Amino acid sequence: MSGKLWGGRFSQSPSDTVFALSRSVQFDWCLAPYDLRSSLAHLAVLEKSGLLDADSSKKIRKALKELISEVGEGKFLPAATDEDVHSALERGLTEKLGAVGGALRAGRSRNDQVATDLRLYAIDQMLIIAQLLVDLQDALAKKAQEYFDAPAPGFTHLQHAQPVTLGHELAKHCHALGRDVDRIADWLDRTSVSPLGSGALSGSSLPLMPEESAADLGFASSARNSIDAVSDRDFVAEALFIFAMVGVHISRIGEEWCLWASTEFAWAKVSDAYSTGSSIMPQKRNPDVAELARGKSGRLVGNLTGVLTMLKGLPFAYNRDLQEDKEPLFDSVDTLQLVLPAVTGMVETTTFDRKKMAELAPLGFSLATEIADFLVRAKVPFAQAHEAAGKCVALCETSNRELHELSDSELSQINSSLTGEVRKFLTVDGALSSRTTLGGTSPASVSAQIEHLLGQSEESRRWISDERAAFSAMMSA
Ligand code: ARG
Repeated sequence: MSGKLWGGRFSQSPSDTVFALSRSVQFDWCLAPYDLRSSLAHLAVLEKSGLLDADSSKKIRKALKELISEVGEGKFLPAATDEDVHSALERGLTEKLGAVGGALRAGRSRNDQVATDLRLYAIDQMLIIAQLLVDLQDALAKKAQEYFDAPAPGFTHLQHAQPVTLGHELAKHCHALGRDVDRIADWLDRTSVSPLGSGALSGSSLPLMPEESAADLGFASSARNSIDAVSDRDFVAEALFIFAMVGVHISRIGEEWCLWASTEFAWAKVSDAYSTGSSIMPQKRNPDVAELARGKSGRLVGNLTGVLTMLKGLPFAYNRDLQEDKEPLFDSVDTLQLVLPAVTGMVETTTFDRKKMAELAPLGFSLATEIADFLVRAKVPFAQAHEAAGKCVALCETSNRELHELSDSELSQINSSLTGEVRKFLTVDGALSSRTTLGGTSPASVSAQIEHLLGQSEESRRWISDERAAFSAMMSA
């Protein structure tokens, strides 16, 4: 059996080069379980509408179920002559059933079929990625909890700015990842529309009941425009944007880890299991997980760019260009499923040097803002307060001292409202514990923040596991 789905009007088979160019089964085989499941849904409506008799339906259902197991066990595989996943599976069906195996093509085109399969694949894989994101969020939140009160330098422009707690620094990543999880939740709402029943582009003259096959496949609704349904790949582009954004987020985690693990910073020690050595320099301990997290973001952004460029200017309904939506999507899914667990492990097993970070925290006159704030509390307008604090820094720099070492008279000469009282505020602990506003870096605020984050991730975990359970129940129905 050749597995060819067309040919009646042709006098020649495609040339080898055309077949090689056309062929997608070497990468779209991962759609097989979704293709078989959507075939079961299509079969059900064909039977229900009386287009297939009960006996043929029963045979086809049995053969499809056998194929589901055989594909799962790797016993049924695509052949060299198969063009894509759809033709390979139709070959499998006709090998089992003879001519009746071709009956499923009634009212269905590969155009609505591939759009349906790809949505199912994307939803399934997206939920796995959502779960991996929550795992990483939790790892970061727990690490933040461990260091909720550990002082560390805080940076702007990568220069010492104001002291922060390491817990605050670590927890910030949870918020970025939380937005990714939110994006996934609303992507799911928008993606839950079934294209099945749209046929090649215009719907079908057969009574297919697309709403029923949609519900059978767990979609919230069925497409309202068949032309849009077969050409819409917004869900692919949006998924790739989410993945690119996740890539950017983990690349920033990666960059911090690389920096913090360097000899110059020496704040972080990544465990042996998440470090690598060098083939020539025996002393090396390289943060490869962090570097790969940073590096992989390139392909995640590239996959998004590739698909958007392919879609731009594309005429509506199906065009073969759309076959190019798959490899970028599959690659981004595989990439994140590979990299996220490793980043989570790296975060979980990293330890930080509290003493080192605390020593560095006040350097670079990072407490200068405390002087300005002190003056503001004494009703000095901020512009003058800022000027005075700057003069204190300049005086310390020329006399090689720290801010708290300035004498009472030096202080009052700079600004008459500046008294020795200010020294009380010129400590890292004082600066940290005074930042108690919502979202501030004080240990108390950070503790509350982490509590909030853990509550949110528990909620995410709940809906993700409900969605995954419903999806796998649908797949095994
Ligand atoms: N392999 C094709 C794809 O991935 C399936 C749809 C082909 N449709 C067609 N009319 N040639 O897009």
